[in-house]
Amino acid sequence: MNSAQKLLLQNKAWAQERVRYDKDYFLRHSTVQTPEFLWIGCSDSRVPANEVTGTEPGEIFVHRNVANLVVHTDLNLLSVLQYAVDVLKVKHVIVCGHYGCGGVRASMTNKSYGLINKWLTNIRDTYRMHRTELDAIGDMDKRADRLTELSVCEQIMNLAKTAIIQEAWKRRQGPVLLGWVYHIENGHLDELCKMDHTTDLDPIYRYRFDPE
Ligand code: CO
Repeated sequence: MNSAQKLLLQNKAWAQERVRYDKDYFLRHSTVQTPEFLWIGCSDSRVPANEVTGTEPGEIFVHRNVANLVVHTDLNLLSVLQYAVDVLKVKHVIVCGHYGCGGVRASMTNKSYGLINKWLTNIRDTYRMHRTELDAIGDMDKRADRLTELSVCEQIMNLAKTAIIQEAWKRRQGPVLLGWVYHIENGHLDELCKMDHTTDLDPIYRYRFDPE
């Protein structure tokens, strides 16, 4: 049996186990999903959204990419965001970074990794904005950890810059934007930053939705 076949076998066991304890487990989720959360996390295999938050299928709408970035030209992320905010009407959008992130570490080197260089430039832009603070941290692991935190909060700001979020804030005073970080070594989550409809966003980013 190869490793992919093992996954199919484990899936059978998992599905049987769920139904054994709760016979309506799949029935309940088969018709509708009403998640309160959109999770924007890293693709890293060690940070699965449901497992680390102790949530079940149906509770979190998930988007993951390398280093949990919110990029304004990323049609995939913007589609997920618009659907989650306007249709599912999620109450919270979480951007979750993690310590020991390979994407963040790669962005701190000058090595060329091919296509992903372009993606990592977004983290390098955050580094440049905080160069004085980051350059002062001698330990490279600690510096990467701090860049991880700064990048998460920059992604929260990137969310707030979108018309999708600003329109929802005006219409329904939600969602709340939460910047979190995950500790790979002990499984804990911490809050780093937060923005909501009362946040005083820099005027240059503010849209006016009223008719002219
Ligand atoms: Co990562």
